Amino acid sequence: MHMTVQEAIARRRSIRSFTGAPLTQAQLNTLLDAARLAPSSLNSQPWRFKVLTGAEDKAWLAGSVSRQQGLFTSAGAVLLCCADISGYLKESAASVQAYVDSGFTGPVMEGIKDYLTVEQASARERLRAAGAMNVALAVSQMMLQAVELGLGTCWVGMFGEDAIKARFGLGEELAVIALLAVGVPAGEHPGPATRKPLDAILLP
Ligand SMILES: Cc1cc2nc3c(=O)[nH]c(=O)nc-3n(C[C@H](O)[C@H](O)[C@H](O)COP(=O)(O)O)c2cc1C
Repeated sequence: MHMTVQEAIARRRSIRSFTGAPLTQAQLNTLLDAARLAPSSLNSQPWRFKVLTGAEDKAWLAGSVSRQQGLFTSAGAVLLCCADISGYLKESAASVQAYVDSGFTGPVMEGIKDYLTVEQASARERLRAAGAMNVALAVSQMMLQAVELGLGTCWVGMFGEDAIKARFGLGEELAVIALLAVGVPAGEHPGPATRKPLDAILLP
């Protein structure tokens, strides 16, 4: 489907009912590439994805762990969208080192070093929030890419993180930020979204 970015943004809606058709490997790769190319703080790229396509996993996610959000059963795939908290710190430090090695100096460099020092001293909750910010950008790009592919998505934020981490063997360093249901939409497009007018979001 040929469309501009503006058209993709306007057309994207949360889709909660899918045909059950699987995604092709090419579609999955295109979606994951959209995520991979997202911007991130200090190019830390802390996003990690687990792609689930099995009926058993989808049925489990549709149960009590998501408060019975049934949309997962008909999705072609569900992506566990995670932030790698140790990776975030490690890659941020590596980027700072690369700047230092390149001879970059001055107030901006000092600011970058200060930023890293604050991040390195931060509690896990703050690091989780920093990771989540980066993951959200990557997921946002996937949701728009899906529109161009004729696929629907729904970001699900209501889930039991500990249970999901245990079932899928996700390590201590990973925080589950979102579950992204992706699939071929079943039924009519929901139409344009309701949104606040511009004057309601512009601060005086
Ligand atoms: C952080 C976040 C959490 C969300 N959690 C859920 C969820 O648990 N279940 C769900 O059905 N939709 C969820 N959504 C989708 C929103 O309800 C939806 O984006 C919003 O109502 C606007 O509608 P639209 O996406 O169709 O434009 C979530 C969206 C975001 C960004």
